[in-house]
Amino acid sequence: MRKPVMAGNWKMYKTAAQTGAAIGALAPLVAGASHVDVVVCAPFVNLPAAVEAARGTNIEIGGQDLFWLKEGAYTGEVSAPMLKAVECRWVIIGHSERRQYFGETDETAAKKTVAALDAGLKPIVCVGERLEQREAGSTDAVLAMQFAGGLAGLTADQFAQVTIAYEPVWAIGTGKTATPEIAAEAHRFLRSQIRGKFGDAAAEACRILYGGSVKPENIQALMAQPELDGALVGGASLDPPSFASIVNF
Ligand code: PGA
Repeated sequence: MRKPVMAGNWKMYKTAAQTGAAIGALAPLVAGASHVDVVVCAPFVNLPAAVEAARGTNIEIGGQDLFWLKEGAYTGEVSAPMLKAVECRWVIIGHSERRQYFGETDETAAKKTVAALDAGLKPIVCVGERLEQREAGSTDAVLAMQFAGGLAGLTADQFAQVTIAYEPVWAIGTGKTATPEIAAEAHRFLRSQIRGKFGDAAAEACRILYGGSVKPENIQALMAQPELDGALVGGASLDPPSFASIVNF
């Protein structure tokens, strides 16, 4: 049985004080949620406040990106050991917004994934097709390429620590959720890629989250698909009661 993960991606929202307050409000609402891993991924400068507010709760904190080298003259970047040092447990890698606006590629995502694993962080590696790719019928080809470029180079031991997030780009922040069937189909395809590269046991064990306009209103139908092992939630995770009702689906 794969334990679901409900991860909030707080993107570039909230100050440190607002982050601490929101996690403080979320904590009692999800305190009984032992059936899932609850994760909040906050902007770098808000991570210490997030970690403090989450201390002693079942909420774990993650970053939203990192740079793959440990240290050096890379102005503006943050390394995996730095995230680890502020007690992050998780990190999002290769989010479509990083790909779209900041030049992230499968190759950089792969390097970042290895850096995260080396530091003992649990990476949530994002894949997903854009609208024109889906309309052209190339969803599977895109996912296969992202898997090959971003994940297939890991060792089996490394891969065992990875969580994948399938986030169709056309569903992110648009209010257009993939139907549970569309999501499940993509998850099955990703699982077949894992099976081909890492074998049956790895494919069965790997947690694949769905992301893209997940809300309290659609989480139940999504989670009714056995292929979905949780969600990466943007907008609807910012409000504690809303995220709590997703966690407690
Ligand atoms: P959304 O974002 O839930 O606001 O669509 C999801 C994501 O980008 O991870």
